[in-house]
Amino acid sequence: MDGVTVIDHPLVQHKLTIMRKKETSTASFRRLLQEISTLLCYEVTRDLELTTVMIDTPLEEMEAPTLAGKKLVFASVLRAGNGLLEGMLDLVPSARVAHVGLYRDPKTLVAVEYYFKAPEDISDRLVVVVDPMLATANSAIAAIDRLKERGAHNLRFVSLLAAPEGIANFREHHPDVPIFTASIDQRLNEKGYIMPGLGDAGDRMYGTK
Ligand code: PRP
Ligand code: URA
Repeated sequence: MDGVTVIDHPLVQHKLTIMRKKETSTASFRRLLQEISTLLCYEVTRDLELTTVMIDTPLEEMEAPTLAGKKLVFASVLRAGNGLLEGMLDLVPSARVAHVGLYRDPKTLVAVEYYFKAPEDISDRLVVVVDPMLATANSAIAAIDRLKERGAHNLRFVSLLAAPEGIANFREHHPDVPIFTASIDQRLNEKGYIMPGLGDAGDRMYGTK
């Protein structure tokens, strides 16, 4: 699918299957999400630009690769985005962090914003937006609208699961933003849940239902 990378690494797929099971505990769900997020982070940062620096090894001087440009930004779509954020920060501890607080109105499925905080200078940084679920994509679209308003123009979106309907909606609104996901599931149900999916990611992470 154009603009979508499915991360089919066996470890990602194995861990995702355990997360989907209804009997998986809150503690295991959170731990697995964190583990998977480091693997997703590895893929989404695969083509980051490198430059070189001169360093001294214990034996001699060498010109060694190092990341070029400004530190990247992870933008977490609250609440569930924080489950992906933690593992990403394990791999890129110096990244800056933005938080976009959104909840999905259960009747209209419209994304309602309740919080926004982002670094001032995101216009010259790569912004990786993280949210485990891309269902209708209303939340992801709203989060990216907000980040673009703040000046972001180099963005990527990472999810665990995506619905085909959400991908189509997302690509229509933000064709410039590549999507990375561990799975494209079958469809949305009448309540806007991803099928077969894993249920409500926020509730499963935090044990709120
Ligand atoms: C979930 C999920 C996404 C959104 C996806 O959040 O984490 O943000 O739904 O649905 P959409 O693509 O149809 O917008 P939710 O609104 O349940 O909030 P929560 O993370 O606080 O539980
Ligand atoms: N949000 C979730 O947490 N799960 C879904 O399946 C859809 C939206």
